[in-house]
Amino acid sequence: MREFDEKSITEAVISRMDECDDPRFKQVMSSLVRHLHDFVRDVKLTEAEWMTAIQFLTDTGKTCTDKRQEFILLSDTLGISILVITLNHPSVNGTSDSTVLGPFYWEGAPDLPRGSNLAVDVKGEPAFYSGRVLSADGRPIENAVLDIWSGDGDGFYDMQMPDETGMKARGRIRTDAEGKYWFRSIRPTYYPVPTDGPVGRMLRKMGRHPNRPGHIHMIVTAPKHLPVTTHLFVAGSEFLDSDAVFGTKESLLAEFKRHPAGTGPYGEPVSTPYYTVNYDFRLRPEAGAAR
Ligand code: BEZ
Ligand code: FE
Repeated sequence: MREFDEKSITEAVISRMDECDDPRFKQVMSSLVRHLHDFVRDVKLTEAEWMTAIQFLTDTGKTCTDKRQEFILLSDTLGISILVITLNHPSVNGTSDSTVLGPFYWEGAPDLPRGSNLAVDVKGEPAFYSGRVLSADGRPIENAVLDIWSGDGDGFYDMQMPDETGMKARGRIRTDAEGKYWFRSIRPTYYPVPTDGPVGRMLRKMGRHPNRPGHIHMIVTAPKHLPVTTHLFVAGSEFLDSDAVFGTKESLLAEFKRHPAGTGPYGEPVSTPYYTVNYDFRLRPEAGAAR
């Protein structure tokens, strides 16, 4: 057939893939075409709207650089990223939930001894983090690595500061023989996702705020276990119920207990009020891994 109407066009496009020799690609593309066509029919997309969408995607591409990924931000703010993560990393048997990676991960953070202050010269109220990394059955994991990164007390990451060229509020901490970790950083605050590009324009047009609740990031890895890319969220933070990237999970809320200035948990003097946080991570063993 050469000519198609508003219904037959869908199967026509899909049948052009008859010769495709990659079944998964064919399945994904067929479903994508079906959903896109249904969407266009559903809203009866006008030509002006179609052109606005083309322009928006063009701007999104042009905003991407080697340091900025506006398409991932688009995926994050439309809930696609967390949907893909939740489908691919289900919490099984109480293992820790995953959430979005975000744009501020910087590979190669320094390996630091347990108890280190990751936030030297970083604005913010001190917070002492501790806990264990356990396997799904509750056994402690020795030598698990927490690759940690955080914004400062004003909500800015090192990468966002024009005068900052080095890493700040980042570090890799390993667990001891009892699976324990501890380190010092700051209590993170809420902050906005980047809003100076097309995704920011989209959020404003949607009537949405751009903020994420206070959180600290970590990727937890351990031999013979599946890695977890996750956060600890500050229980009680603003925007927990309306995270701009839908990344909040109840299981990742952590209580930040406030203490008066005085002596910190490692016996060191702390001249301002500070917080302590305790949180255990549970990792899923790799399929077939014997521990
Ligand atoms: C973040 O948590 O750093 C983040 C995550 C997704 C989009 C923007 C920022
Ligand atoms: Fe973040």
